[in-house]
Order: sequence, then structure tokens, then C-alpha cells
Amino acid sequence: MCGIVGYIGSAKAAPFLIKGLHQLEYRGYDSAGIALTQPETGRIEVFKAKGKVDNLERKLQQAAGEAAAFTVGIGHTRWATHGEPSEQNAHPHLSGSGELALVHNGIIENYQLLKEQLVELGYTFQSETDTEVLVQLIDYFYQKNGKKLKNAVSQALKKTIGAYAIVVMERNNGRHLVAARKASPLVIGIGQDSSEFFIGSDATPLIEHTHKMVYLEDEQIAEIRMGHELEITNLDEIVAEVSVKDVDLDISALSKGGYPHFMLKEIFEQPQCIENCMRGRVVKQADGTYDINLSALHNFKAKLIRARHVIIVACGTSWHAGLIGKQLIEEMCRIRVEVEYASEFRYRNPVIEKDDVVIAISQSGETADTLAAIQLAKQEGALVFGIVNGVGSSIARETETGVYIHVGPEIGVASTKAFTGQVTVLTMLSLALGRALGTVAEDKFQQICAGLVEIPRLMKQVLKQNDAIANLASQFTYAKNFLYLGRGYNYPVALEGALKLKEISYIHAEGYPAAEMKHGPIALVDKEMPIVFIATHHQLYHKIISNMQEVQSRGGRILAVVTEGDTDIQKFAHDLLEVPDIINCLEPLLSVLPMQLLAYHVAVKKGLNVDMPRNLAKSVTVE
Ligand code: AGP
Repeated sequence: MCGIVGYIGSAKAAPFLIKGLHQLEYRGYDSAGIALTQPETGRIEVFKAKGKVDNLERKLQQAAGEAAAFTVGIGHTRWATHGEPSEQNAHPHLSGSGELALVHNGIIENYQLLKEQLVELGYTFQSETDTEVLVQLIDYFYQKNGKKLKNAVSQALKKTIGAYAIVVMERNNGRHLVAARKASPLVIGIGQDSSEFFIGSDATPLIEHTHKMVYLEDEQIAEIRMGHELEITNLDEIVAEVSVKDVDLDISALSKGGYPHFMLKEIFEQPQCIENCMRGRVVKQADGTYDINLSALHNFKAKLIRARHVIIVACGTSWHAGLIGKQLIEEMCRIRVEVEYASEFRYRNPVIEKDDVVIAISQSGETADTLAAIQLAKQEGALVFGIVNGVGSSIARETETGVYIHVGPEIGVASTKAFTGQVTVLTMLSLALGRALGTVAEDKFQQICAGLVEIPRLMKQVLKQNDAIANLASQFTYAKNFLYLGRGYNYPVALEGALKLKEISYIHAEGYPAAEMKHGPIALVDKEMPIVFIATHHQLYHKIISNMQEVQSRGGRILAVVTEGDTDIQKFAHDLLEVPDIINCLEPLLSVLPMQLLAYHVAVKKGLNVDMPRNLAKSVTVE
């Protein structure tokens, strides 16, 4: 995920680009860059800086020279997926010929293969990004077809597997830009009489200049020419209708994708995030069966297979994902797994053996305790494997290998999409490792993969209960305490539900394995106390019904998350929320969504600052 902007017209491009990048910074902020040109000059000037857009702005003020007045430009604020955040890897990327500049949002899955082919043709590369491969590929067709940019872009995109929103600029023809998209968003704003055009990843930077917007559709290419009507075709260059929308939206809501808070936006983004996380990794083959490709597993297969013992280290929500990982790895790989709070592990003189694998899970990749736990594990000679969102973050650099979750920047302090991304990666990892070890039956492997690819669709179904959950939430703002109960794979979901609620609504909440309730917490139950049961079909269903009866007979107020169509639990619960039926190990990916929404709406109803709750920080870089 990243932010893209573009401008072509008669005003100076740089001020629009910089302001637009600031407005899109929520989409990514590890480096930023712009490329500027002027139709008559035949020059492209590129400015890049590591870190936030402010750094780029300062650099531009010092170095822009006459380029400051150029009237055509493209810009990018990056959320790295391939290659660490650095100036070298920042966009825009130039083709080797220097004739083309490109900004890209997305992932080119087959970049490695394309890169090898381009290297054979004599192309060289300055960065580690997949994006540079794309600009070189476009350049290859451009040089071959007599420098017809739009045609070169469509030929290159036909060879590309993955997700992209791109804008390409040409050195020798500054009178046009070419843009295209598939799976990543791109919108073009049309200025007065088509004398100028504005491009953005969303409409935020455009809205103060125009309300006439064209949202590109998948596999469409737009030729944007100064003073001409917009021309849109598909990849076969068949002309498509240009549908202009009159958009009138509040800017602050736009950067949140129209949602009132980042947290809600991130909850709703989960179907797309999980799709991104699985892209190129869970692969359907020609014969209809599934395979899982994780390059980290491929490269470190021998060591991972030898592991006698896995230790997962993490904090907070990532630790809850780790608890699900434990169940997954033990079930699929038959390897013993311990899950440790990184803060305890680092000071406990733990037993770590040479053939152990330590898995560090972190959204930010900057959590101080998790970093220290990794350093300790490395000293003891264990292989350290990272499951991280922050590309190029400290944890990503410290770990020997790992898998990025690729869910894009998470802004809300309460982690939501990172959790489901982590669980998805842990599922893919345990399946792939289990298959390599021969400990997971092939039909089960196939059944879980088939379930995984359904998750984005099923998540959308669960999210439809948003309004119902909002209504329910108003009844709970009085509560001082909450209890969350679940079993099996849903036990960590109970912990996560309780953490979400206490973080943002300041209501004390505890998560427990449902059967543990009678060993203590049941003493708290009275009619004031809401008790959330995650009681789906496959997690010791009948036993959990008994636990529910125990609560009911003491007057507790039960909110149950059940499998769609369940009629038995109605008898015990005051309120029901449903999740679709799915194989048990995938249930957390669905059952956690009502937990996130419940916490969100209770906090909103209490009038609290959901995205920045008191006393908390997004990245805990102190111990
Ligand atoms: C989750 O909602 C929290 N804000 C917090 O517990 C978080 O998960 C924890 O600090 C770990 O962060 P990390 O994943 O970035 O390492």
C-alpha cells in the first residue's frame, strides 16, 4: 500500500504533488519521491528522500532549481514490500534508458522471473524493488515498438502477475501521462475544460481542485493528455467508456477512506488485506489443487524441518496471534511450540537449543521487548523467523528470514488487520511446513487451503453485522467489567476481544478459556456482567454450552458468537452474532471480527478517542 499522485497542466506540479503526498501519507510513509518534467525540455528530474514527506519537501526546497516550475509530475509515498525503505528503493523509478519514470502501488508477483529475463537482455537494476522491474519491462517494449508509451505499458502489464496502480511519465513527451490499475486504487480528477488533470490513490488530494473524478477499473489504461479528453482502454487497447463521477466529500473522512476512524477502516479492509497477504502464496494449480509458496520456507527448509522445538515470542495482539500459531503448528507439524511474552523471555534465561526455531511476531517490527528476545535467541544459535508487517523494520532486519504479512500500514492503535494477517501467515506457514514434514494429510491440506481462499468473502459476510453490533454496543456502555470466553482456536480470540475492549473503551475485560471459568472468574458473574462466549460449532461446542448454562443460572448477561444457523444457543444467550461455518483452525479469522467491531462501537458510544486511546502508543519502542 502506498500513495500515488500525478499532475499535468499549466500550474506548477510540485506544490500539488507534495500536498497530495502529505494527504496520502496514511497509506505509507517510509520514503517519498517525485519526478518532474516540462514538455519542451526533454528532461526528467527526480527527487527522493527516506522517511516522511517532510524530508522530501525540505530536499525539494533546497535542490529543485528550475524544476520547481515544471508543470508535469508524478509522486509516491512508499510502504515497502520489496526492498528496505531507502532512498535507492524509493519511487519514482527510472528506466535504464532514463526515458521513463514510474510510480507504483502494489506487488509484482512474478518480478523475479521477469528480472532474470531482463538481465539476460542486458538490463541492469539500481534498486531491490519489484517496481523497477516493471519500468524496465515497459522500457523494453517501448524501445521495441517505436516509443509508443501506451502500447508499451499494455504489453508489459500483460506479462505482469500481481497488483498495480501505476503512473508513467515520458522524457521526450511531457504532454501526457499514462496510468493503469489492477487491484490497487487509482482516481483521475478532470480540471476545467480538460486543461489539467490530477491523479491520486484516492480522491483526497484531488477534491479541492475538482469534483469530476474517474475511478479506473481493473486492467484499464488511461492516456492523460493536456487539453484532450481522457482516453481509457483495456489492456488490448479496446476503448472503454469514461464514466465521470461528481464526487463531493469531506477531506478528513476521505483519508480514512470515508470511515469515521482509521480503526473502522482497518477492520473493513481485512478482506482485501487477507487477499493481499495470500497473493502469490496460496496458489491454485492447473489441476485445481492448491500449493503454498513461501520463499522463506524454501530457502530455510532444512533448518525448519530439523526444528525439534518452536518458541514464539511477541507482545500484545501479536502474542495472541502466536497462541493460535501454537495450535496450528502443533496440529499440522507435530512440533512442540511454546508461546512467550517477549518481555519475560528476554530476562528469564530460557532454554534455547541450537535446532530450535524462534518465531518473532510483530506488526510494527519495532517493539523493543521482541527485538531483545530475538537478539537473545540469536546469541543462543537458534534460527529466528520473523512475521512482520513493517517492511525493512528493525525486527525484519534482525531476523534471518521470515514472511511479511503485507496488510499495509496500520494507523489505529488497536491492532486489527495485523492480527488477521499474522494468523493467515501462521496458517500458511504451518500448512507448508506440515506438508514438507509429511505430518499433514493431503486432503486436510487441500481443505484448509480451499477454506483460506474463501476467507475474504466470508469476512465480508461477517462485517455486514456492523449496524447490529453498533446497536448492541449502546447497551454495554454502562459495564465496568466484561468476561470473554472461548475454547480451542477461539480461546486466543477471547483474549484478543478482551484486549481490544480494554484498550479503547477503558472497560476492564478478561479473556479466559471457557472451562477455566468455574475455577475462579465465575465468582464475578451477576446480572450486571456481560459475558461474551465465542461458541462456534467446532470448538468443543457441547462443552461450551454447559459453561453457558452455568452462567445463565447465575443471571449473567450472555452475548454469544455462534455458527450461522445455530438454534440451540438462542435458549441461553441474550444476544447472538453469527459467523459462517468453516474448518475449526480458520475460525479465528472470522470470529475475531465481531470482537473488533464490538470494542470499536462501545468506545465510540462512550465518546472516546478510538484511534489514539489514552496512555498507549502504536509502536512500543521502550521496554
Ligand atoms: C494491540 O491492539 C496493541 N496496541 C498492542 O498490544 C500491540 O499488539 C503490541 O504492542 C505489539 O506490537 P507489535 O505487534 O507492533 O510488536
